[in-house]
Amino acid sequence: GRQLQLREVGGILLQAATVDNWSEIQNFEAKPDDLLICTYPKSGTTWIQEIVDMIEQNGDVAKCQRAIIQHRHPFIEWARPPQPSGVEKANTMPSPWTLRTHLPTQLLPPSFWENNCKFLYVARNAKDCMVSYYHFQRMNQVLPDPGTWEAYFETFISGKVGWGSWFDHVKGWWEIKDRYQVLFLFYEDMKRVSKGPSEEPLQTQDPKCEIQKVVQFMGKSLDETVLDKIVQETSFEKMKENPMTNRSTVPKFILDQSISPFMRKGTVGDWKNHFTVTQNERFDEIYRQKMEGISINFCMEL
Ligand code: A3P
Repeated sequence: GRQLQLREVGGILLQAATVDNWSEIQNFEAKPDDLLICTYPKSGTTWIQEIVDMIEQNGDVAKCQRAIIQHRHPFIEWARPPQPSGVEKANTMPSPWTLRTHLPTQLLPPSFWENNCKFLYVARNAKDCMVSYYHFQRMNQVLPDPGTWEAYFETFISGKVGWGSWFDHVKGWWEIKDRYQVLFLFYEDMKRVSKGPSEEPLQTQDPKCEIQKVVQFMGKSLDETVLDKIVQETSFEKMKENPMTNRSTVPKFILDQSISPFMRKGTVGDWKNHFTVTQNERFDEIYRQKMEGISINFCMEL
Protein backbone atom coordinates (compact mmCIF):
# COMPACT_ATOMS: atom_id res chain seq x y z
CA GLY A 1 0.00 0.00 0.00
CA ARG A 2 0.94 3.63 -0.42
CA GLN A 3 1.58 5.87 2.54
CA LEU A 4 -0.93 8.62 3.28
CA GLN A 5 0.57 11.60 1.47
CA LEU A 6 -2.08 14.31 1.71
CA ARG A 7 -3.04 16.60 4.61
CA GLU A 8 -5.50 19.46 4.93
CA VAL A 9 -4.89 23.19 5.07
CA GLY A 10 -8.05 25.31 5.23
CA GLY A 11 -10.09 22.33 4.08
CA ILE A 12 -7.87 21.72 1.03
CA LEU A 13 -5.82 18.52 0.72
CA LEU A 14 -2.17 19.18 -0.10
CA GLN A 15 0.97 17.07 -0.06
CA ALA A 16 2.09 16.46 3.53
CA ALA A 17 5.53 17.98 2.95
CA THR A 18 3.86 21.11 1.58
CA VAL A 19 1.80 21.41 4.75
CA ASP A 20 4.96 20.94 6.86
CA ASN A 21 6.49 23.80 4.89
CA TRP A 22 3.40 26.00 5.00
CA SER A 23 4.80 29.06 6.79
CA GLU A 24 7.74 29.28 4.37
CA ILE A 25 5.29 29.12 1.45
CA GLN A 26 2.94 31.74 2.90
CA ASN A 27 5.86 34.09 3.59
CA PHE A 28 7.16 33.74 0.04
CA GLU A 29 8.14 37.14 -1.32
CA ALA A 30 6.98 37.46 -4.91
CA LYS A 31 8.35 40.46 -6.86
CA PRO A 32 6.21 42.84 -8.94
CA ASP A 33 7.39 41.55 -12.32
CA ASP A 34 6.89 37.87 -11.54
CA LEU A 35 4.69 35.66 -13.69
CA LEU A 36 2.78 32.85 -12.02
CA ILE A 37 1.49 29.92 -14.08
CA CYS A 38 -1.64 28.72 -12.29
CA THR A 39 -3.57 25.53 -12.96
CA TYR A 40 -5.71 22.94 -11.30
CA PRO A 41 -3.75 19.64 -11.61
CA LYS A 42 -3.98 17.86 -14.98
CA SER A 43 -5.16 20.94 -16.86
CA GLY A 44 -2.13 21.38 -19.12
CA THR A 45 0.50 22.70 -16.69
CA THR A 46 3.40 20.98 -18.44
CA TRP A 47 2.16 22.18 -21.81
CA ILE A 48 1.77 25.86 -20.86
CA GLN A 49 5.07 25.75 -19.00
CA GLU A 50 6.82 24.53 -22.14
CA ILE A 51 5.11 27.26 -24.18
CA VAL A 52 6.20 29.94 -21.70
CA ASP A 53 9.70 28.51 -21.66
CA MET A 54 9.91 28.55 -25.45
CA ILE A 55 8.70 32.16 -25.47
CA GLU A 56 11.28 33.15 -22.85
CA GLN A 57 14.03 31.44 -24.86
CA ASN A 58 12.80 32.88 -28.19
CA GLY A 59 12.14 29.41 -29.58
CA ASP A 60 15.60 28.02 -28.79
CA VAL A 61 14.87 24.34 -28.06
CA ALA A 62 18.32 23.55 -26.66
CA LYS A 63 18.06 26.39 -24.15
CA CYS A 64 14.63 25.17 -23.08
CA GLN A 65 15.95 21.68 -22.44
CA ARG A 66 18.71 23.06 -20.28
CA ALA A 67 16.23 25.25 -18.47
CA ILE A 68 14.06 22.28 -17.57
CA ILE A 69 17.00 20.30 -16.28
CA GLN A 70 17.79 23.27 -14.08
CA HIS A 71 14.17 23.22 -12.82
CA ARG A 72 13.18 26.65 -13.88
CA HIS A 73 9.62 27.71 -13.08
CA PRO A 74 9.61 26.12 -9.61
CA PHE A 75 6.32 25.12 -8.00
CA ILE A 76 5.96 27.48 -5.08
CA GLU A 77 4.33 24.83 -2.88
CA TRP A 78 6.75 22.07 -3.86
CA ALA A 79 8.55 20.37 -0.97
CA ARG A 80 10.33 17.05 -0.76
CA PRO A 81 13.11 17.21 1.82
CA PRO A 82 16.06 16.96 1.72
CA GLN A 83 15.83 18.49 -1.76
CA PRO A 84 15.44 22.29 -1.88
CA SER A 85 11.82 23.44 -1.73
CA GLY A 86 10.20 25.46 -4.51
CA VAL A 87 10.67 28.60 -2.42
CA GLU A 88 14.37 27.84 -1.89
CA LYS A 89 14.85 27.16 -5.60
CA ALA A 90 13.18 30.44 -6.55
CA ASN A 91 15.36 32.34 -4.09
CA THR A 92 18.53 31.12 -5.81
CA MET A 93 17.31 32.28 -9.24
CA PRO A 94 17.65 35.72 -10.79
CA SER A 95 14.45 37.81 -10.77
CA PRO A 96 11.94 38.33 -12.38
CA TRP A 97 10.67 34.85 -11.77
CA THR A 98 8.32 32.62 -13.70
CA LEU A 99 6.79 30.26 -11.18
CA ARG A 100 4.10 27.62 -11.09
CA THR A 101 1.35 26.73 -8.65
CA HIS A 102 -1.73 24.56 -8.33
CA LEU A 103 -2.91 26.51 -5.26
CA PRO A 104 -6.47 27.85 -5.14
CA THR A 105 -6.71 31.64 -4.77
CA GLN A 106 -7.43 31.56 -1.02
CA LEU A 107 -4.18 29.69 -0.30
CA LEU A 108 -1.88 31.78 -2.50
CA PRO A 109 0.95 33.58 -0.64
CA PRO A 110 -0.32 37.16 -0.13
CA SER A 111 2.76 38.77 -1.76
CA PHE A 112 1.44 37.76 -5.21
CA TRP A 113 -1.67 39.91 -4.71
CA GLU A 114 0.25 42.71 -2.98
CA ASN A 115 2.69 42.99 -5.88
CA ASN A 116 0.02 42.73 -8.57
CA CYS A 117 1.88 39.90 -10.29
CA LYS A 118 0.82 38.46 -13.62
CA PHE A 119 -1.23 35.27 -13.43
CA LEU A 120 -1.48 32.90 -16.37
CA TYR A 121 -4.37 30.54 -15.63
CA VAL A 122 -5.14 27.49 -17.78
CA ALA A 123 -8.49 25.78 -17.23
CA ARG A 124 -9.55 22.40 -18.62
CA ASN A 125 -13.07 21.00 -18.74
CA ALA A 126 -13.93 19.14 -15.54
CA LYS A 127 -14.72 15.78 -17.14
CA ASP A 128 -11.45 15.41 -19.03
CA CYS A 129 -9.63 16.76 -16.00
CA MET A 130 -11.18 14.07 -13.81
CA VAL A 131 -10.20 11.33 -16.27
CA SER A 132 -6.66 12.64 -16.51
CA TYR A 133 -6.34 12.95 -12.71
CA TYR A 134 -7.65 9.39 -12.24
CA HIS A 135 -4.98 7.93 -14.51
CA PHE A 136 -2.37 10.19 -12.92
CA GLN A 137 -3.21 8.93 -9.43
CA ARG A 138 -2.98 5.36 -10.69
CA MET A 139 0.57 5.92 -11.91
CA ASN A 140 1.78 8.49 -9.34
CA GLN A 141 3.05 6.46 -6.41
CA VAL A 142 3.25 9.47 -4.07
CA LEU A 143 -0.44 10.31 -4.42
CA PRO A 144 -3.25 8.18 -2.95
CA ASP A 145 -4.43 5.16 -4.95
CA PRO A 146 -7.60 6.35 -6.75
CA GLY A 147 -9.41 3.02 -6.35
CA THR A 148 -11.99 2.12 -8.97
CA TRP A 149 -13.24 4.65 -11.51
CA GLU A 150 -16.65 4.60 -9.75
CA ALA A 151 -15.01 5.40 -6.43
CA TYR A 152 -12.82 8.10 -7.92
CA PHE A 153 -15.84 9.75 -9.54
CA GLU A 154 -17.20 10.42 -6.02
CA THR A 155 -13.82 11.48 -4.64
CA PHE A 156 -13.31 14.02 -7.42
CA ILE A 157 -16.81 15.49 -7.07
CA SER A 158 -16.38 15.83 -3.30
CA GLY A 159 -13.10 17.70 -3.83
CA LYS A 160 -11.19 15.27 -1.61
CA VAL A 161 -8.26 15.20 -4.01
CA GLY A 162 -4.94 17.00 -3.98
CA TRP A 163 -5.35 20.80 -4.35
CA GLY A 164 -9.07 20.57 -3.60
CA SER A 165 -12.20 20.83 -5.66
CA TRP A 166 -11.98 21.53 -9.41
CA PHE A 167 -15.16 23.60 -9.09
CA ASP A 168 -13.83 25.86 -6.33
CA HIS A 169 -10.44 26.23 -8.01
CA VAL A 170 -11.80 27.32 -11.37
CA LYS A 171 -14.46 29.55 -9.77
CA GLY A 172 -11.90 31.19 -7.51
CA TRP A 173 -9.54 32.14 -10.33
CA TRP A 174 -12.38 33.11 -12.67
CA GLU A 175 -13.84 35.47 -10.06
CA ILE A 176 -10.63 37.43 -9.49
CA LYS A 177 -9.60 37.64 -13.13
CA ASP A 178 -10.87 41.17 -13.76
CA ARG A 179 -9.34 42.61 -10.58
CA TYR A 180 -5.80 41.42 -11.28
CA GLN A 181 -3.55 40.90 -14.30
CA VAL A 182 -4.91 37.51 -15.33
CA LEU A 183 -4.71 35.82 -18.70
CA PHE A 184 -7.35 33.09 -18.51
CA LEU A 185 -6.81 30.38 -21.13
CA PHE A 186 -8.60 27.13 -21.92
CA TYR A 187 -6.89 23.83 -22.69
CA GLU A 188 -9.53 23.18 -25.36
CA ASP A 189 -8.74 26.45 -27.18
CA MET A 190 -5.05 25.51 -27.21
CA LYS A 191 -5.95 22.14 -28.78
CA ARG A 192 -8.34 23.46 -31.37
CA VAL A 193 -6.97 23.77 -34.87
CA SER A 194 -8.32 26.45 -37.19
CA LYS A 195 -10.34 25.20 -40.06
CA GLY A 196 -9.38 26.46 -43.47
CA PRO A 197 -11.43 29.12 -45.25
CA SER A 198 -13.43 26.45 -47.06
CA GLU A 199 -14.58 24.83 -43.83
CA GLU A 200 -17.11 26.95 -42.01
CA PRO A 201 -17.24 28.17 -39.35
CA LEU A 202 -13.75 29.56 -39.04
CA GLN A 203 -12.48 28.97 -35.52
CA THR A 204 -10.61 31.85 -34.01
CA GLN A 205 -8.80 29.88 -31.33
CA ASP A 206 -5.92 27.57 -32.15
CA PRO A 207 -2.53 26.90 -30.58
CA LYS A 208 -0.89 29.78 -32.44
CA CYS A 209 -3.59 32.24 -31.48
CA GLU A 210 -3.41 31.19 -27.81
CA ILE A 211 0.40 31.28 -27.85
CA GLN A 212 0.25 34.78 -29.34
CA LYS A 213 -1.92 35.84 -26.40
CA VAL A 214 0.72 34.54 -24.00
CA VAL A 215 3.49 36.35 -25.89
CA GLN A 216 1.58 39.63 -25.62
CA PHE A 217 0.72 39.04 -21.97
CA MET A 218 4.43 38.52 -21.26
CA GLY A 219 5.15 41.85 -22.95
CA LYS A 220 7.15 40.25 -25.74
CA SER A 221 6.90 40.10 -29.50
CA LEU A 222 8.14 37.22 -31.61
CA ASP A 223 8.61 36.65 -35.34
CA GLU A 224 6.05 34.56 -37.15
CA THR A 225 8.66 31.86 -37.80
CA VAL A 226 9.45 31.61 -34.08
CA LEU A 227 5.74 31.37 -33.28
CA ASP A 228 5.34 28.56 -35.81
CA LYS A 229 8.28 26.74 -34.29
CA ILE A 230 6.80 27.04 -30.81
CA VAL A 231 3.51 25.61 -32.08
CA GLN A 232 5.36 22.62 -33.55
CA GLU A 233 7.68 22.00 -30.61
CA THR A 234 4.88 22.12 -28.03
CA SER A 235 2.56 19.69 -29.81
CA PHE A 236 1.50 16.64 -27.80
CA GLU A 237 3.44 14.34 -30.15
CA LYS A 238 6.67 16.31 -29.79
CA MET A 239 6.35 16.64 -26.03
CA LYS A 240 5.55 12.94 -25.66
CA GLU A 241 8.82 11.95 -27.28
CA ASN A 242 10.89 14.62 -25.52
CA PRO A 243 12.55 13.15 -22.38
CA MET A 244 12.63 16.62 -20.84
CA THR A 245 8.85 16.97 -20.98
CA ASN A 246 7.58 13.36 -20.82
CA ARG A 247 8.92 12.82 -17.26
CA SER A 248 10.78 9.65 -18.29
CA THR A 249 13.66 10.87 -16.10
CA VAL A 250 11.51 10.60 -12.95
CA PRO A 251 12.13 7.27 -11.15
CA LYS A 252 9.50 4.54 -11.39
CA PHE A 253 8.91 4.50 -7.63
CA ILE A 254 7.47 8.00 -8.06
CA LEU A 255 5.89 7.89 -11.55
CA ASP A 256 5.20 4.40 -12.85
CA GLN A 257 4.68 5.01 -16.55
CA SER A 258 4.08 1.31 -17.20
CA ILE A 259 0.69 1.85 -15.48
CA SER A 260 -0.20 5.00 -17.47
CA PRO A 261 2.15 7.34 -19.35
CA PHE A 262 2.56 10.90 -18.11
CA MET A 263 1.87 12.10 -21.65
CA ARG A 264 -1.24 9.98 -21.81
CA LYS A 265 -3.60 11.08 -24.61
CA GLY A 266 -3.66 14.86 -24.73
CA THR A 267 -7.13 15.06 -26.25
CA VAL A 268 -10.46 16.76 -25.66
CA GLY A 269 -13.42 14.43 -25.02
CA ASP A 270 -11.72 11.32 -23.59
CA TRP A 271 -14.33 11.54 -20.79
CA LYS A 272 -16.74 9.87 -23.21
CA ASN A 273 -14.66 6.70 -22.93
CA HIS A 274 -15.00 6.73 -19.12
CA PHE A 275 -18.32 8.26 -18.02
CA THR A 276 -21.39 6.04 -18.02
CA VAL A 277 -24.64 7.68 -19.12
CA THR A 278 -25.80 7.76 -15.51
CA GLN A 279 -22.55 9.27 -14.26
CA ASN A 280 -22.72 11.88 -16.99
CA GLU A 281 -26.26 12.94 -16.08
CA ARG A 282 -25.37 13.11 -12.42
CA PHE A 283 -22.21 15.06 -13.13
CA ASP A 284 -24.07 17.58 -15.30
CA GLU A 285 -26.56 18.17 -12.50
CA ILE A 286 -23.84 18.65 -9.88
CA TYR A 287 -21.95 20.92 -12.26
CA ARG A 288 -25.05 23.10 -12.70
CA GLN A 289 -25.39 23.46 -8.94
CA LYS A 290 -21.75 24.12 -8.20
CA MET A 291 -21.12 26.51 -11.09
CA GLU A 292 -24.40 28.41 -10.80
CA GLY A 293 -24.06 32.09 -11.66
CA ILE A 294 -20.62 31.63 -13.25
CA SER A 295 -20.60 32.63 -16.92
CA ILE A 296 -17.83 30.28 -17.97
CA ASN A 297 -18.23 27.96 -20.93
CA PHE A 298 -16.17 24.86 -21.47
CA CYS A 299 -15.84 23.05 -24.74
CA MET A 300 -16.46 19.33 -24.09
CA GLU A 301 -15.40 17.92 -27.46
CA LEU A 302 -13.72 19.18 -30.60
P1 A3P B 1 -4.28 13.44 -20.45
O1 A3P B 1 -4.09 12.65 -19.21
O2 A3P B 1 -5.73 13.68 -20.76
O3 A3P B 1 -3.56 12.89 -21.62
P2 A3P B 1 -0.57 18.55 -16.31
O4 A3P B 1 0.66 18.92 -17.06
O5 A3P B 1 -1.30 19.74 -15.74
O6 A3P B 1 -0.30 17.49 -15.31
O7 A3P B 1 -1.62 17.98 -17.36
C1 A3P B 1 -1.41 16.74 -17.98
C2 A3P B 1 -2.39 16.57 -19.11
O8 A3P B 1 -2.01 17.45 -20.20
C3 A3P B 1 -2.35 15.16 -19.69
O9 A3P B 1 -3.67 14.91 -20.19
C4 A3P B 1 -1.33 15.33 -20.79
O10 A3P B 1 -1.36 14.32 -21.77
C5 A3P B 1 -1.75 16.67 -21.35
N1 A3P B 1 -0.71 17.32 -22.16
C6 A3P B 1 0.60 17.49 -21.86
N2 A3P B 1 1.24 18.09 -22.88
C7 A3P B 1 0.32 18.32 -23.84
C8 A3P B 1 0.36 18.92 -25.14
N3 A3P B 1 1.50 19.38 -25.65
N4 A3P B 1 -0.78 18.97 -25.85
C9 A3P B 1 -1.93 18.49 -25.34
N5 A3P B 1 -2.05 17.93 -24.13
C10 A3P B 1 -0.93 17.84 -23.38
